[in-house]
Amino acid sequence: MFAVIEGIEGSGKSTLQAGLAEALRARGERVATTREPGGSPLGDAIRAIFLSTELEVAPVAEAMLVNAARAQHVASLIRPALERGETVICDRFVDSTLAYQGYGRGLDLSMLRGLCELAVGGLGADLTIVLDCEPTLSRERLDARGSARDRLENERYGFHQRVREGFLALARGSSRHVVLDASDTRENLVAAALAAIEGLGIRG
Ligand code: TMP
Repeated sequence: MFAVIEGIEGSGKSTLQAGLAEALRARGERVATTREPGGSPLGDAIRAIFLSTELEVAPVAEAMLVNAARAQHVASLIRPALERGETVICDRFVDSTLAYQGYGRGLDLSMLRGLCELAVGGLGADLTIVLDCEPTLSRERLDARGSARDRLENERYGFHQRVREGFLALARGSSRHVVLDASDTRENLVAAALAAIEGLGIRG
């Protein structure tokens, strides 16, 4: 089973990912957790370039960088884990490209879908959990974290609002998406995510 968690920065994706993995492991499942961009040595190297505040990165270059990382991630980690029967929980996947480079940067969605398809070769999430988060809450959480902001976190409120609306637009009318309120407690969010997985009727 391949589950993806999406949302703007500071929406609590990694906290939910850890809670969900812990709950599934307690039930005896083998769970792999990973993230994008990242998930492989090449992906981690691309992540560092992608988030650097020192570099100028054009929107199309952004889309190509994340998809180069994704192609390697799918080939070296996600597909092998799924083939071994593990549950994979990934922090971000294709919807992030559509939301950030599409809705956020204004690149054409069908062009982006084609590029992502080249990277994933037909692999899609069984379930995508969207943590819907008001950009002001996201900003408060990032400020509380205290570390320096990366290139994308430095973007303005309007960009994050477009990205948030992009995630919601992608989820609308889709049976594989579940939208949860990012301001809810960790416990409630883990319970809702587990319920969504159970609702799929496929495990393992
Ligand atoms: P995060 O996962 O720690 O939030 O950081 C990853 C950043 O990369 C985040 O700002 C979103 C951005 N990103 C894209 O713009 N497009 C993508 O396809 C992916 C996977 C991430």
